[in-house]
Amino acid sequence: MKKVLVTGGGGLVGSSIERLSKYYDYDFIFSSRKDGDLCVERDVKNLLFKYKPNYVIHTAAKVGGIAGNLAAQADYFYQNLLMNAYMIHHSAVNNVEKLFAFTSVCVFPDGKEMEESNMHTGPPFEANFAYAHAKRMVDVQIRAYKDQYKVNNYCSIIPGNIFGENDLFDLASGHVIPSLIHKMYKAKHEGEDFVVWGDGSAIREFLYVDDISRIILELLGEEDVPERLLISGETQYSIKEIAETLKEVAEYPREVIYDTSKPKGQASRKSNLTLLRSLFPDFEFTNLKDSLAKSYLWFENNYPNVRL
Ligand SMILES: NC(=O)c1ccc[n+]([C@@H]2O[C@H](COP(=O)([O-])OP(=O)(O)OC[C@H]3O[C@@H](n4cnc5c(N)ncnc54)[C@H](OP(=O)(O)O)[C@@H]3O)[C@@H](O)[C@H]2O)c1
Repeated sequence: MKKVLVTGGGGLVGSSIERLSKYYDYDFIFSSRKDGDLCVERDVKNLLFKYKPNYVIHTAAKVGGIAGNLAAQADYFYQNLLMNAYMIHHSAVNNVEKLFAFTSVCVFPDGKEMEESNMHTGPPFEANFAYAHAKRMVDVQIRAYKDQYKVNNYCSIIPGNIFGENDLFDLASGHVIPSLIHKMYKAKHEGEDFVVWGDGSAIREFLYVDDISRIILELLGEEDVPERLLISGETQYSIKEIAETLKEVAEYPREVIYDTSKPKGQASRKSNLTLLRSLFPDFEFTNLKDSLAKSYLWFENNYPNVRL
């Protein structure tokens, strides 16, 4: 049976892959920080030597919202660059056959269509330029290693905005759905108003975590994987649709308050999912209500033992 090493096993995507792994016929190993610091080359070498995986799903990263990025551009650049460089290099020299390394839609140049071939065609959004440049290097490194080491089944995954169980529910992080879930919990259980910033008209694309995990797990079984793959939500929703659906699934009895004195946020762009659809024409994304219900109930059942 093929061995699959999943890094970032305690994170949003890593823990979703763990929940779903029982449906797939592989020998999975989930590593977390207690198994080593992936910014330290020796730890990465030891991890690959210890487990000798056939495939690697590298989800570990230093991840944060705009505020976190603005406060520590250097840390986001340095840590992500190191962990990706070591993981891709040591996977290639240790004969890992397939590797999926996570980048982000923030790699796309501001104002350009979000489509795989546009990854390097202009500067990324300024607020997280350092994280975005570090993530672009995943793609550069994979291309270089394909050229020299012939690792033809190494792939940069470019995820959109993910949410779900075991997310980071920090109220200040700026990630829309986890912070709305946390606010809803406080409104329902602590009597606070459920206040949403802006008028609710801003449009966003969201991706339920188990959807991206299912796609990656399916890709493990493909003979050939693409060099880059953009995976994002297929439907766009207004913040108002998100807030009102959350009110329904949480059975919150009061009205949502829209604070129009607060900014409504950056304009959203639509992802071009042509490549994803050519690989998985019949893939069904989880609908908004079900995915919000699962995420909200998970938070409610696990609070206060959640990642904040
Ligand atoms: N979430 C999103 O909306 C989103 C969007 C686009 C792209 N992505 C990308 O998708 C991937 C998965 O994201 P996620 O949301 O699952 O992230 P996450 O929940 O923050 O999980 C990342 C995991 O990596 C671990 N990690 C961080 N630094 C490490 C280190 N030096 N050594 C070992 N482990 C380390 C973290 O452990 P600790 O908790 O101990 O720090 C955490 O468990 C990331 O590459 C991210 O950049 C995410």
